[in-house]
Amino acid sequence: MKTAGENSFIFITGACGGLGRAFAFACGEKGNLFLTARSAERLASLKRELSQKYPSIRIESFPCDLTSTDSREALFRHVEECGYTFAGLCNVAGADIQKAFERYSREKIAFQCRVNLEGTLCVTHFVLAHRDPALEIVTVGSLSGVYPMPYFAIYSATKAALASFFSSLRLEMKGRGVKVTVVQPGGIPTRPDIVADIKGQGLWGKLSAKSPQYVARKGLAAVAKNKRICIPGFWNKAIARVPKLVPLSWRMHFIARRWRKLEKDAF
Ligand SMILES: NC(=O)c1ccc[n+]([C@@H]2O[C@H](COP(=O)([O-])OP(=O)(O)OC[C@H]3O[C@@H](n4cnc5c(N)ncnc54)[C@H](OP(=O)(O)O)[C@@H]3O)[C@@H](O)[C@H]2O)c1
Repeated sequence: MKTAGENSFIFITGACGGLGRAFAFACGEKGNLFLTARSAERLASLKRELSQKYPSIRIESFPCDLTSTDSREALFRHVEECGYTFAGLCNVAGADIQKAFERYSREKIAFQCRVNLEGTLCVTHFVLAHRDPALEIVTVGSLSGVYPMPYFAIYSATKAALASFFSSLRLEMKGRGVKVTVVQPGGIPTRPDIVADIKGQGLWGKLSAKSPQYVARKGLAAVAKNKRICIPGFWNKAIARVPKLVPLSWRMHFIARRWRKLEKDAF
């Protein structure tokens, strides 16, 4: 992922979040950055930090609510007016609502699907149409997308859908200068509630958790090699593969027992 000239950028969604920041700082070494998240103030502050570290690159940003068609269209219009093209895309934005399906409002069902899936697909479609001759796309899925997860069901389903979609896209783009990778991390201590969740999972949480910097580095290294899936960390690879030896219904009962105790919203 290397930008190719003054108007070529690496596009990063969810740039102000814990993992998005790590991607932004890692990608700053590779060239110009185009950052998006919802808050203009947080984007401006991140831009200042990045400019201090990388004074010689261009850093542009535009606030966007990825769940809103109007907000996405405003972002796309702005990019087209500026004439930017893209050598990289890091799809990091996502939200994690955790509760029994019956306890969702319809508004929250739409929000969870739109930010994790619809927004990511629309941004990817746009960036593909405005790409440099070479483009690397790295999308943040989750280890939660590897198995169906009762009580985390919509999040898990949207992350599984990302792995499915980008695996197909990778093949559609084969031989056309586009590399496509989905990263499926376990716990990343990016917010206080996630730090508490990881702690609550005991030894497994500790073994599985990886820093945002580690996950970003692994994701970028994987897409450079055009790996389809990247699961950062030895124990996370084990969590994804070894339980497949056990029937799915047993695995899901185990997951349900652990996850029915947790409830979390996102906005
Ligand atoms: N942390 C973990 O344990 C973990 C594990 C596996 C996968 N992941 C995935 O990693 C990604 C980043 O998570 P994180 O831990 O860094 O969480 P985070 O700190 O909450 O960051 C989430 C980012 O997504 C953006 N976002 C949320 N809703 C949005 C919307 N409607 N429109 C535009 N942007 C929106 C947020 O933007 P604002 O800054 O505007 O709020 C924020 O920048 C997510 O896709 C998550 O599912 C996280």
